[in-house]
Amino acid sequence: MTKPRALGLIALVLALMAGVYVFSGHQPDPAALYFNRGNPVQDEALQPIVPLRKPGALRVDRIRLGQQLFSDARLSRDGTVSCASCHVLAAGGTDNRRVSVGIGGALGQVNAPSVLNSGLSFAQFWDGRAATLELQAAGPIHNPAEMDSSWSQVVARLNEDAALRKGFQAAYSDGLTAQNIASALANFERSLVTVNSRFDRYLLGDSTALTEDELSGYKRFRELGCSSCHQGVLIGGNMFQKFGVLGDYFANRPMVVADLGRFNVTGREEDRHVFKVPSLRNVALTAPYFHDGSALTLAEAIQVMGRYQLGRDLEHEDVRLIVAFLNSLTAPDLGSRVGE
Ligand code: HEC
Ligand code: HEC
Repeated sequence: MTKPRALGLIALVLALMAGVYVFSGHQPDPAALYFNRGNPVQDEALQPIVPLRKPGALRVDRIRLGQQLFSDARLSRDGTVSCASCHVLAAGGTDNRRVSVGIGGALGQVNAPSVLNSGLSFAQFWDGRAATLELQAAGPIHNPAEMDSSWSQVVARLNEDAALRKGFQAAYSDGLTAQNIASALANFERSLVTVNSRFDRYLLGDSTALTEDELSGYKRFRELGCSSCHQGVLIGGNMFQKFGVLGDYFANRPMVVADLGRFNVTGREEDRHVFKVPSLRNVALTAPYFHDGSALTLAEAIQVMGRYQLGRDLEHEDVRLIVAFLNSLTAPDLGSRVGE
């Protein structure tokens, strides 16, 4: 046999072997690797979900100012509503209402998402209309159904407070300005990182942190495809997706402007009913669910996800297991991580 012909033959044999390998389903499957080991995961690269870690260097003086302003009702027109009225930290960073109640009992159009871990989100609001927490802060302050105020009003009112004015002068070279109020609030929010959930302890190597049911729930969450959208460090918060990929969620139901989702931001037809995939961290605490607050329980929300995002009616047992898994995402401490 001549040399080129021998090489050709070897190449053919190798190609056939590769074909057999691929068609016999021998693609390396990180999920199988992980679940068959029965061990907690050491290798985060194999996981769709990443543990939360304490935030890096943040200015403590700015966080403290933000913390104070977060529950300061002077940010609202009539001094009755603060950020904390709708984002109760100890309750999971939300108000547990279907839609929020603002100044004078005004009802909003959407359910309040949690502020906990919001600094790790790729965009703010259900429709992602604010790119940063600094830009987000202007929203509630000006929203007539929330605080119904304005930056000039807020700055004027806070400037009458000598201690606060001094605090801002120490923390910012240009003192108490609208921009610095937004910055302080954003710094405080970035410190709200809820580490040490049992699921994170499990990911970081504690094999005893989860019950059998919770572990099975995580497995089903992956196998069913929930983690194709709910993933990363927030188990959400890193992409936009249509609500109703495999069925029309909005059919036969009265619609409000907010139901159009990202369409309201971009005006593009393909963004109709597209929303930020919400984080599932501490989700057991933040009922009711969805941008419209329509699902009263986690079990109901999971059923709806199965039907409209995955195109299937989930087994009762799968729902039960996924509820158990989602409960393991609740952190033991929902306060600020400043000074740790
Ligand atoms: C009247 C209730 C109410 C008040 C007061 C309020 N919020 Fe909100 N907050 C909401 C609602 C409702 C949304 C969702 C709005 C949307 O997506 O269109 C929201 C969204 C947010 C988000 C985005 C979270 C995410 O995951 O997208 C952040 C951050 C936030 N608020 C922080 C604040 C801060 C800071 C203040 C005070 C300056 C504040 N909120 C005041 C109800 C409120
Ligand atoms: C195709 C992407 C996609 C898939 C797959 C998906 N989700 Fe969602 N999920 C979303 C979006 C988008 C929302 C927000 C919908 C809304 O309220 O507008 C959401 C909302 C939720 C909520 C409500 C969170 C809250 O704070 O209101 C839960 C709980 C949830 N999903 C769990 C699941 C589970 C469990 C699965 C698998 C059975 C799943 N999701 C599959 C995209 C997805």
